[in-house]
Amino acid sequence: MKNLCVIGSGYVGLVTGTCFADLGNNVTLVDIDQRKIDLLKQGEMPIYEPGLAEVVERNTAAGRMHFTTSYEEGLKDSEFVFICVGTPSGVDGEADLQYVRSAATTIAKTMKKSLIVINKSTVPVGTGDWTTEIIESNQPEPIDFAVVSCPEFLREGSAIADFMNTDRTVFGSTNREAAEKVAELYAPLDAPTVITDIRTAEMIKYASNAFLATRISFINEISIICERLGADVTEVARGMGIDKRIGPHFLQAGIGFGGSCFPKDVKALANMAQTHGMHPQLLNAVMEINAFQRRQITLKVRELLGGNVNGKTVGVLGLAFKQNTDDTRESPSLTVIRSLLNQGATVKVYDPVAMDNASEEVTGMTLCDNSYSVAEGSDALLVLTPWNEFKNLDMNRIFSAMNNPILIDGRNMYDPDMMREMGFVYRGVGRGFNGEGIMAEDGGD
Ligand code: UDX
Ligand code: UDX
Repeated sequence: MKNLCVIGSGYVGLVTGTCFADLGNNVTLVDIDQRKIDLLKQGEMPIYEPGLAEVVERNTAAGRMHFTTSYEEGLKDSEFVFICVGTPSGVDGEADLQYVRSAATTIAKTMKKSLIVINKSTVPVGTGDWTTEIIESNQPEPIDFAVVSCPEFLREGSAIADFMNTDRTVFGSTNREAAEKVAELYAPLDAPTVITDIRTAEMIKYASNAFLATRISFINEISIICERLGADVTEVARGMGIDKRIGPHFLQAGIGFGGSCFPKDVKALANMAQTHGMHPQLLNAVMEINAFQRRQITLKVRELLGGNVNGKTVGVLGLAFKQNTDDTRESPSLTVIRSLLNQGATVKVYDPVAMDNASEEVTGMTLCDNSYSVAEGSDALLVLTPWNEFKNLDMNRIFSAMNNPILIDGRNMYDPDMMREMGFVYRGVGRGFNGEGIMAEDGGD
């Protein structure tokens, strides 16, 4: 058992701390947000993450998890401190490091004994060295410490399973012994381990996220071509993915990637390249395709509603950036909704858990209690987040409730033939049919 402190109790920090407690460690979670800490102390989760509440409850009851806003309390007995604060995009797409700076400064001023400082936040290459300088220059008196980069690869919605069954763990430091000590914390996971220098570890995180985002933009570009040429991108992806050199993952065409990581990390990597005199052509294309993919949905609705959405009622199922989360940061669904509202549509919406977060970001939506109320009187229905509950809707009931049976399936969740047989005017993403391109069937644009 080790004593660990985790700074930042958001999606990454809370899951990381909880999983380490579940591995038998004594963990203190620190957050500057008093509301979050109060909720956690009362056994309430500040975020929606499947399975998280039970694991927190179990480990709190066992006395292995503590919550505080005080760095003194968090660092008192800790040998390791994880920095898990957010690193949002700055004005030019660069990662905004103000929260990492603040965490490192406070750690430096508070630490009383030697400490391993582990950066879990996604930070630009070189941040490890910068963190070392900040700590050195803010310590009231020199105390031994080491900085280790240990990027996190968990996905929201499956975060606990991703942590516990990670494909690999990565540790980077100028201090090999410190990196090995952090690796020991992860030893119970029995995952392949990469121990390397700190800049390489930081780059592994960006390169991994940018590569996954590239796969999504690749298949989204293929989807546009499929649509025009009368092929089905879901079958294309299946046919490609069986090849072991390609693999089946992250090849689902849709409305583009969102969330707190891919959009920000691709932008930040491109920004790093640019500020060092390079022209990141592929990364720029990945972002451009992603923006285009979101726009495609709005264009489809407009086209099917006779060229104008003004005065029409459009229903939207799904507000979160993906299923099984309440997170709406960079959600493609919200981009589509904003555009429809700006063009004069009435937009009725429903999401199983993301309604509150979405309402903080977008005003003017009509909030509904369930999918059927959204469909009621709608001129078109858009399914934009692939929640399981949307897969098993009573589509006959949806059909009867709608004013106009236009169904735009932004995540290719439904069988196109079945939907057309029921009477829907169905559009998926990248699904031409009967050997015809969708645009050709509609008489071209
Ligand atoms: C994380 C990462 O750390 C980020 O770098 C990565 O790219 C995405 O995932 P995430 O956990 O999603 O961020 O962020 P968020 O849910 O916003 O949580 C950050 C937490 O840190 C918040 O609870 C915030 O209150 C807290 N915080 C922030 C501090 O405790 N101290 C600060 O100085 C700033
Ligand atoms: C991502 C990385 O997967 C994870 O390793 C990292 O730690 C954080 O960023 P996350 O953003 O939580 O995780 O979710 P992810 O499942 O990767 O989905 C990201 C976005 O891509 C979502 O909007 C999702 O809907 C979209 N996506 C994903 C697709 O459009 N197609 C796919 O095939 C896969």
